[in-house]
Amino acid sequence: MMTIDIITVVPALLDGPFSHSIMKRAQDKGLLTVRTHNLRKWAINKHAQVDDYPFGGGAGMVLMCEPLANAIEELQQTTTYDAIIYMTPDGKTFDQPMANQLSMLQNLLIICGHYKGIDQRIRDQFVTMEISIGDYVLSGGELAAAVVVDAIGRLIPGVLSDETSALTDSFQDNLLAPPVYTRPADFRGMKVPEILLQGDPKKVEDWRFEQSLERTKTRRPDLFKED
Ligand code: ADE
Repeated sequence: MMTIDIITVVPALLDGPFSHSIMKRAQDKGLLTVRTHNLRKWAINKHAQVDDYPFGGGAGMVLMCEPLANAIEELQQTTTYDAIIYMTPDGKTFDQPMANQLSMLQNLLIICGHYKGIDQRIRDQFVTMEISIGDYVLSGGELAAAVVVDAIGRLIPGVLSDETSALTDSFQDNLLAPPVYTRPADFRGMKVPEILLQGDPKKVEDWRFEQSLERTKTRRPDLFKED
């Protein structure tokens, strides 16, 4: 059972991603709980203020220390977090090994930045891990958090109906997944590779491995160079 708390100024952005398909099933089965928390609940004044201008000037607003610290500390009163994650383009780039590792933890707290990000002191004081989902800038951490939660959530044992299917995903062996086919065997003259129709599991396995190698070599040669 995994619990993921997410602090955000735009909780509505996270309504959709966890309400359908595999993430919904994970929650329905009691294997995953995702709770979003509106940072404005911890706003410092009547104006529901959670952000302010950056010291030193410059464009954009910065999420303030007090609301974030109060939110984190309140949540910590009922949950002990294995990781407090801040979603940020200057974090460590998210990949499958990170997803695998995170899926083995129990309680995660994810902080979504917005505007120019969060006050550095919150990062220094509370955050234990900083994650980027790629070298581009999103308008907030919410979509990035949704990506991370989805990638982790499907790895929790029991979430996928076919337990082995996560193991055959792309990237699990530093290899891309092979091509897949379903019926019909002949679509507009384009035929499914004969070997998949012959019913010899060993041959199918060898063929898939060959295809994985070939795909990785042509599309992502960089994956061979890793560890
Ligand atoms: N927030 C804004 N851009 C982001 C990114 N690329 N990854 C994670 N969080 C972000």
